[in-house]
Amino acid sequence: MNPTLVQGAYIVAGLLFILALNGLSKHESARMGNRYGIAGMAIALTVTVVAAVMGTTDGGPSSGGSGLSGLALILPAMAIAAVIGITLARRVEMTGMPELIAMLHSFVGLAAVLVGWNSSYEKHVAYPTIHDVEVFVGVFIGAVTLTGSVVAYLKLSAKIRSSPLALPAHNALNLFLLAAMAVMTVVYCLTSQDADLTRLLLLAGVTLLALFLGWHLVVSIGGGDMPVVVSMLNSYSGWAAAAAGFLLSNDLLIITGALVGSSGAYLSYIMCTAMNRSFLSVIAGGFGVEAGSAADEGDYGEHREITADDAAGLLADASSVIITPGYGMATAQAQHAVAELTKTLRARDINVRFGIHPVAGRLPGHMNVLLAEAKVPYDVVLEMDEINEDFPATDVVLVIGANDTVNPAAIDQPGSPIAGMPVLQVWEARDVIVFKRSMATGYAGVQNPLFFKDNTRMLFGDAKLRVEEILKAL
Ligand code: TAP
Repeated sequence: MNPTLVQGAYIVAGLLFILALNGLSKHESARMGNRYGIAGMAIALTVTVVAAVMGTTDGGPSSGGSGLSGLALILPAMAIAAVIGITLARRVEMTGMPELIAMLHSFVGLAAVLVGWNSSYEKHVAYPTIHDVEVFVGVFIGAVTLTGSVVAYLKLSAKIRSSPLALPAHNALNLFLLAAMAVMTVVYCLTSQDADLTRLLLLAGVTLLALFLGWHLVVSIGGGDMPVVVSMLNSYSGWAAAAAGFLLSNDLLIITGALVGSSGAYLSYIMCTAMNRSFLSVIAGGFGVEAGSAADEGDYGEHREITADDAAGLLADASSVIITPGYGMATAQAQHAVAELTKTLRARDINVRFGIHPVAGRLPGHMNVLLAEAKVPYDVVLEMDEINEDFPATDVVLVIGANDTVNPAAIDQPGSPIAGMPVLQVWEARDVIVFKRSMATGYAGVQNPLFFKDNTRMLFGDAKLRVEEILKAL
């Protein structure tokens, strides 16, 4: 295949990926952003497969073409992967998306490790030192991403406990592992290309070291800080793909990996700012430990309950209402009932708005996706910073399945695991109604003093059922 055509198609695909990222940054353009991404990926896959089968003349690894035998391997692999991908995507609940994403990141990491190992067997390359560094970096980032993502998957799906594991001197251990990797890279580059066993042992050593580092980075992070970890692993998976792109001499893989890597890093930065965490400590792993891990079991007195009928009465008399949804709205699948309630209240000239915390739910934008699915108008869905000052002038706040994101302990209790995280200051409103099934804690496992405040009433039960009862009463 003509190399100019291949490069041209890669540039078009790269531009479509940039348009996709741009589109995904706003609700209104997210759908279009997805379409750009799908188009870019379709072009990228088609051109890569055709070029691999027909061969290019640019001297890259596919220059000779792998012919029909290559196609006979690639097509069944793609078909199997497509069936698995479609089945998973159809089956997964919105609440299970973070786990799925973490798992998919681990596949990127594994692919980078395999590409690195495969490339390590290439002999007589043009620039052996550069090639050796690419192999080591690719395997290292890939292996860190692999185990880090598997641990994130296990934590997010509650298969292991989400509290941080603090090994003694964990920061020094991380630094030691990084230094060991650098030394092994230098030794690998200086070792003769013919010393097969020494090189094999060094590569195996760095793989094991990176697998351990990935596990250690994520296992040291506390539950409440997991959102940043997911986006950080997203970034790592991008850099792992870019490293594989260097080894395969595939420009598009380098561009795409760098786009994913840098946008993931930027998202991590935004989330760190939103949660008042240090970006550098996230990259180094183990942040959140110093914040204190003991849940506050203090005595806050008695909580008060309210019935759906009385909640409907409060709402009917209100002139301004703010709804702050959280993970419980997702598990209850209450978004359609909540959208209906919004419509009903707005029809009565009540000012209804939503306050969205940046880490509400279990993945970035989780609440926005659910509300968009239920067709809640975008202009009433506000970010935490846009709405936090309006709570004192609000009559009723409905906290629907949110807990950590409305917990005043983040402000009042310096020893709390969520200390320092900005929260929606719902308690400033005249009345607060909390929808949840019990007095259980939220994701971070800390008690919420909001539930015991004088102006708070608990409405126990499944959020969807309770919202539907309020609708009936209205
Ligand atoms: P959470 O603190 O997780 O609390 C959710 C609440 O929903 C729970 O208290 C639960 O109480 C209630 N709930 C569950 N099912 C319900 C149902 N069917 N009906 C009514 N209530 C129900 O929620 P949040 O405020 O959204 O905070 C998110 C937390 O997850 C933060 O700690 C955040 O750091 C973390 N996290 C976020 C992300 C991203 S990127 N957003 C990723 C990983 C982790 P009951 O069990 O008593 O009903």
